[in-house]
Amino acid sequence: MVDSREISSQVLSDIFYGKSFDRALLLNKEYSKLDQRDKSLVSLLVLTSLRRNGQIDNVLSHFIKKPLKKNFFIRYLLKISVAQILYLDFPEYSTVHNAVEISKKYKSEKFTNAILRNICKNKKKFIKEIPAIINIPDWIKKDLEKFLEAKDLLEIANQISLEPYIDINIKNENFNQYNWEKILKGKKVFENIIRIKNKSNIEDLPFFQDGKWWVQGISSSLPVFLIKKIFKKNSKNKTVLDVGSAPGGKSFQLIDFGFKVSSIEISKKRIATLNSNLERLKLNTKIINEDFLNIDFKEKFDCILIDAPCSGSGLMQKKPEMLVVKKDISSLVKKQKKMLLKAANLVKDGGYIIYCVCSMLSAEGENQIISFLNNQKCFSSKNHFTDILEFGEVLKSNTFLVTPNSFQKKGGVDGFFIGCLIKNPN
Ligand SMILES: C[S@@+](CC[C@H](N)C(=O)[O-])C[C@H]1O[C@@H](n2cnc3c(N)ncnc32)[C@H](O)[C@@H]1O
Repeated sequence: MVDSREISSQVLSDIFYGKSFDRALLLNKEYSKLDQRDKSLVSLLVLTSLRRNGQIDNVLSHFIKKPLKKNFFIRYLLKISVAQILYLDFPEYSTVHNAVEISKKYKSEKFTNAILRNICKNKKKFIKEIPAIINIPDWIKKDLEKFLEAKDLLEIANQISLEPYIDINIKNENFNQYNWEKILKGKKVFENIIRIKNKSNIEDLPFFQDGKWWVQGISSSLPVFLIKKIFKKNSKNKTVLDVGSAPGGKSFQLIDFGFKVSSIEISKKRIATLNSNLERLKLNTKIINEDFLNIDFKEKFDCILIDAPCSGSGLMQKKPEMLVVKKDISSLVKKQKKMLLKAANLVKDGGYIIYCVCSMLSAEGENQIISFLNNQKCFSSKNHFTDILEFGEVLKSNTFLVTPNSFQKKGGVDGFFIGCLIKNPN
């Protein structure tokens, strides 16, 4: 049986080569043989190493002058070991001993031993002096620095180092039926959302199989919350096109509020997930498995919700693999622009486009709206954000940026961007 630390190092290495966390676990044969306790340990070690990658590299650079080659297994073993010693407070002796034993296979036991012992000796200094800010990669930090203060950035860095909570969105008809805080052992944090501590087996929680709730982060629920506010009690007659709809959180909310929903999604695989989620939740929508950019619609919609494909830079806490693999966002930015333009012709006069991305980068958020409005004179940007100010800030363009450090006392939120565009009648 391969040791969990060795498996963690393999998984971490796969992530540095571009695999997502989930896929790296799924494809690791040794991981699948572990019991639940060891699987949880692997997750903890890998996710902590990713969240603390900048700090860990900084620590290692004190003792390794030339960066270790990407294909050198010991590189990942050291990262996992530093995460254990400095950020998980695992016992030093057993951590070093274990790493040295694994290193023997790679004839690197002396090297591993010397580095980890030195790190143990300087543990307090490293924990105190190496700030979390260096965990945010430069391609994200440089952009955020343009509009966030240093204090906010530091708070964001601290927030994303922590394990995230899970938000559970209860269906309207079931919300007052039970004491959900008690049933799910969580806290109501917003609307129908109960926040719980991370749990690996979500499907085992009460009423999951009965389809009374789904998992959806607060940030991601805000666009539909705004749509509900905008259309107030008229939701029953209003048509909403949910663009990029799988795995389905926003469609579920829209259907649950009574809108007439059409959900379009390009990916067959993701449509399958959407369908199985809808079945479990006993919800119905018109599903269109097409490319939004290539489809002709005969009707116009009261509202088009574009949850555009994006870098996911707002998900640094939930998907920390993004902290170690740089994304090229240029093709995404082009696609987002095309989606906005296509929606402009499909929305009724007086109707709305709600554009959102789980990103905080201005190129994917505010700049998209500014450039859209420069060319589409019949649209204007509306500030409908007064009820959600606890989650972020209204930007100059009348758009909204959700920042992870807002809502910090209740556990923080994912970074997110929302623009509400009204089509003014000519
Ligand atoms: C951010 S995810 C959507 C998440 C979803 N709205 C939810 O709340 O669960 C973006 C989605 O857009 C889909 N997508 C990307 N390009 C598309 C296109 N041209 N037409 C339709 N869907 C597209 C992706 O496959 C992906 O599922």
